[in-house]
Amino acid sequence: MTKTTNILHIDSSILGDNSVTRTLGADLVARFAAEPGAVVTHLDLAATPLEHLSGSLFAARAIDADQRTEAQQRDVEASDKALDDFLAADVIVIGAPMYNFSIPSQLKAWIDRVAQAGKTFRYTENGPEGLAGGKKVVIVSSRGGVYSEGLSHMDFQEAYLKTVLGFLGITDIEFVRAEGVNFSPEHKVQAVAAARAVIAGTERLAA
Ligand SMILES: Cc1cc2nc3c(=O)[nH]c(=O)nc-3n(C[C@H](O)[C@H](O)[C@H](O)COP(=O)(O)O)c2cc1C
Repeated sequence: MTKTTNILHIDSSILGDNSVTRTLGADLVARFAAEPGAVVTHLDLAATPLEHLSGSLFAARAIDADQRTEAQQRDVEASDKALDDFLAADVIVIGAPMYNFSIPSQLKAWIDRVAQAGKTFRYTENGPEGLAGGKKVVIVSSRGGVYSEGLSHMDFQEAYLKTVLGFLGITDIEFVRAEGVNFSPEHKVQAVAAARAVIAGTERLAA
């Protein structure tokens, strides 16, 4: 029997059809989806954003359902769904643009839901321990400038994602990157073509 491979595909760009990460992420997921047993769940965090985590929403996790307001209950259900999809995924493709040197706030709101003590990480006598290991993550990254050479100290996008996913126990993290897309239209075409070549050369990532 063919083993099921759960693929979680996350988009967070606000740029719709003009988005580089949406285009490249779709290409990559199409490759994975062609593999036997692949099941894709798509999460569009720009179209259906999670709320920014507030004190009230954070507190709602710790109180009984019948004590919650309607807004708290709605948010707990959305958080639980985000967490369940994350935990069930074997492969996660994250479309992660650089916005203001970091990630879109919609993607941060998702991280604020899946990073939950006791569920995806815990603190032990020996320090923090990630509980969500064993997954492959591919981050489809696009940025207007170039940060892989020279300006890496200004990169709070890829570095942050690697850190927070590592904290949750995920060590198998790859990047498909388009850089310098705002230098000129020619740069953008070249950067996207280079990223497409990486995707085309990608082995059975869902394995
Ligand atoms: C709101 C916003 C903020 C941005 N901030 C940066 C930035 O800090 N550094 C950078 O190099 N490019 C920046 N850019 C350019 C994007 O990284 C670039 O357009 C990239 O392709 C975005 O990914 P997307 O096309 O999938 O949305 C920004 C773009 C937008 C829309």
